[in-house]
Amino acid sequence: MEIIVKQDYDQMSRCAAEHIAELIRKKPNSVIGFATGRTPIGTYRELIRMHKEEGLDFSQVVTFNLDEYLGLGMDLSKPYALDQSYQRFMYEELFNHINIKKENIHIPDGLTKNPDEFCKAYEEAIKEAGGIDLQILGIGGDGHWAFNEPGSTLDSRTRVEKLNEQTIKDNYEAFYKEAGFTMEEMPHYAITMGLGTILEAKSLLMLANGAKKAKVVAKALYGPVTDQVTASAIQVYKGKATIILDKEAASMLDSKDYN
Ligand code: PGA
Repeated sequence: MEIIVKQDYDQMSRCAAEHIAELIRKKPNSVIGFATGRTPIGTYRELIRMHKEEGLDFSQVVTFNLDEYLGLGMDLSKPYALDQSYQRFMYEELFNHINIKKENIHIPDGLTKNPDEFCKAYEEAIKEAGGIDLQILGIGGDGHWAFNEPGSTLDSRTRVEKLNEQTIKDNYEAFYKEAGFTMEEMPHYAITMGLGTILEAKSLLMLANGAKKAKVVAKALYGPVTDQVTASAIQVYKGKATIILDKEAASMLDSKDYN
């Protein structure tokens, strides 16, 4: 795996966007796995800039998002402002601002009446698209990838997962508090791609920033491969993994491991 450390969040974001853009220029019909969370927002802003100013073309790009809260989605009967779904996040932070085709966007349906069937169909859709060329990932405070909480196995597939306490707290602070929700009102279940699904992507791009992530990044990259830190799956990944960090998130790594 290649570890790239940048001075700050903006530089990390620009570097990550360039990495994604390079793939799209080389393969315009790339299949890209997108992630949500605070971490990739800067990367998405840079991709939007590249689209508007440099003509980066998303017209043939196909996307699959990692996860979605169960019970949330683009339900038009609910007030828009109350919808904290990842679907809304993706449209607001990226898809509304680029020339991506709606039919090429795949986000787990948090409003599905039959989650098990939906998860199977999601796996099938990834296969039918030819697999994921590049999967973008953050890392949770508990070391998770997507919503693969501690205890998730390396061969896990797309499924419903119960969020653990730390994730509920982290995501409440990051997204729900400002929208006026109480912690109890936040969804406690989600649909998530499994670790096995993620490890089948042809390449991975993991991003992390801030001192809060330093310890968990070091655990994922150097610690034992364990279901207690599911991002440690990166150590058994067989494709090309690129990790882009800011200086703070890299502060517990050995500097001889990066450029
Ligand atoms: P964050 O979430 O980007 O909001 O820190 C990362 C994650 O949970 O994967």
